[in-house]
Amino acid sequence: MITRRTASAGLASSAILAATPSLSATDPTVRELPPPRTEGGKPLIQTLKLRRSIREYSDRPLASQVLSDLLWAAFGINRPSGDRTAPYWRHIMVIDVYAAMADGVWLYEPKRHLLLAHSRADIRAQTGLQDFVANAPLNLVYVAHGERMRDISANERRLYASVDTGFIGQNVYLFCASEGLATVFRGAVDYEKLNRTMQLETDQFVTFAQTVGYPRG
Ligand SMILES: Cc1cc2nc3c(=O)[nH]c(=O)nc-3n(C[C@H](O)[C@H](O)[C@H](O)COP(=O)(O)O)c2cc1C
Repeated sequence: MITRRTASAGLASSAILAATPSLSATDPTVRELPPPRTEGGKPLIQTLKLRRSIREYSDRPLASQVLSDLLWAAFGINRPSGDRTAPYWRHIMVIDVYAAMADGVWLYEPKRHLLLAHSRADIRAQTGLQDFVANAPLNLVYVAHGERMRDISANERRLYASVDTGFIGQNVYLFCASEGLATVFRGAVDYEKLNRTMQLETDQFVTFAQTVGYPRG
């Protein structure tokens, strides 16, 4: 059987993987993702030309590989040091990325590149004030951990958490532009309600949300 440790260390060979049940088969609180594709995509300049906000979504769920690639592009680990695809304040991991989908809310865990169940509820409609959020297959919810931001004021916490989120959001924009997906970064959120719905701790707060899906039509 594959333990979480071997999975996280990337030690399991494909032969072992083929012969044993997956983590998610043995633990419903874990959703495995295929390894992210870290090559390919459109050239950067072409991608920049295509980047835009889109607000009309098909309700088709994202393919597992697309979800995996998207989360890695958003805030995955891109170096042996454990550092990420987006820069972050004072080398402190302040932002966690949650994926709100029809089957619940999942926390992206970059070290093992998998999803951890946060809640089984479909809270997509509560992630924003616009109609399309309820049916789009994925709403990313960016959550700041204020408790990790010591010795600064509440305003500064909000500022740095927002900047960190913006970088992740732009990664998502560029990935979506490259892959022909639709996305929009969103501040029109009932924050108090969403913080409550997600049962966040006192010092944790949602910074922004971002819808992702296949474009409608
Ligand atoms: C901080 C921020 C908050 C935003 N909030 C929303 C939002 O709540 N709803 C929305 O539809 N678009 C939102 N947007 C997207 C902008 O409306 C969009 O980026 C802008 O109109 C330019 O369009 P473009 O992204 O297609 O270039 C937001 C963008 C940013 C940077």
